[in-house]
Amino acid sequence: TQPEHPVEYDESVGMWHVYGHPEALEILGDPATYSSAVAARFAPAEQAAVAFDGNLTQTDPPEHQKLRKIVSRTFTHKMVAGLEERIRDLTHELLDQVEGDTFDLAEALAYPLPVIVICDLLGIPRSDRDQLKAWADQSLAARGQLTTRQGDAAQERSLDDQAEAAMEMGFYFLERVAERRRSPGDDLLTRLIEAEVDGERLTDRQIVNFTNLLMFAGHITTTMLLGNTILCLDAFPDADARVRKDRALVPTLIEESLRYLSPLAAGYRLTTRDVELAGRRIPEGQVLEVWFSAANRDARVFTDPDVFDPARDPNPHLGFGRGIHFCLGAPLARLEGRIALGILLDRFAELRTDPADRPTFLTPPDFTGVWSLPL
Ligand code: HEM
Repeated sequence: TQPEHPVEYDESVGMWHVYGHPEALEILGDPATYSSAVAARFAPAEQAAVAFDGNLTQTDPPEHQKLRKIVSRTFTHKMVAGLEERIRDLTHELLDQVEGDTFDLAEALAYPLPVIVICDLLGIPRSDRDQLKAWADQSLAARGQLTTRQGDAAQERSLDDQAEAAMEMGFYFLERVAERRRSPGDDLLTRLIEAEVDGERLTDRQIVNFTNLLMFAGHITTTMLLGNTILCLDAFPDADARVRKDRALVPTLIEESLRYLSPLAAGYRLTTRDVELAGRRIPEGQVLEVWFSAANRDARVFTDPDVFDPARDPNPHLGFGRGIHFCLGAPLARLEGRIALGILLDRFAELRTDPADRPTFLTPPDFTGVWSLPL
């Protein structure tokens, strides 16, 4: 169903919901009016200065432009393209461990793959990978009592755990940065230390906050993309048959999956002045929840928005956001998605959900993704 109005005030949370595609574009295209420093604004000043320095998602121009220019030097298309063979080998390696006719896709592939790739990129030793994954999961847990995948038993995590996990991960990366300063390596961490734009380099704190962001932004989102795409193919057997017959459709399939089940369902902005949006008057200092997922079903922009069309083109979805904060990891997520999906389709003649063993979902309301996906 389409919302009654593209912009609504929600009294229960004191926040504005933005559902429309043109309205979302208006917001994402005007960072001077719609600030990204939302969490930073509500945290105590001294805490914000430490926790968000170097976190692109919480930074506005001109600081954002400067930071993004420096990190873009390190996170290049060329670097991402160079990972293709490694991602292919890793996907096969992980799937080789699957035994029998049924398996949990999240456990076998969707959860481990993105985190291994990020750790490899950063030059993190293999032995530390599980610890990093646990910290990242733990930190995410507070966003809605997401159960973590640590150890055998799923555990609920509190806000204190979350802060502690982010801090421990921060100290861990601080040590790695100090190591790389002493002996540089051929990895992203070293390139972040060495990157320079107009004579400026990142401080240790900025590098640590940025690597923390990469761990969070990079590991769970691509996981969601993989699981969601399989869910879509399961729900739309015609689309499944079409893609299996024509693998050239995999890139548009990935884009349609990002539209139809957007992993990061929403982003937040703060008004810096009184504005009028879609006829609604919104005062300065208000928080807006921009629903990428709803904008991606806006019938004013997408024909038959509730139909999953793996060949949809053009597909101006907002799954990776838009404007100056457009996802920095989009080329990596797309590459991982295309390779992993292609291999899954090659290796399994049929991938169906099990009516007796249903998927479970991540609980934060702004995430759309599976926690487990038995196939
Ligand atoms: C920003 C989605 C994968 C790193 C964003 C934004 C979205 C998004 C919607 C914009 C948020 C906003 O404007 O408020 C996704 C999805 C992914 C994905 C759906 C996977 C399917 C990744 C990966 C990485 C990454 C793999 C890095 C390894 C980032 C960073 C930003 C960002 C650093 C902040 C950019 C900025 O503020 O300038 N992502 N992301 N993302 N993403 Fe992703």
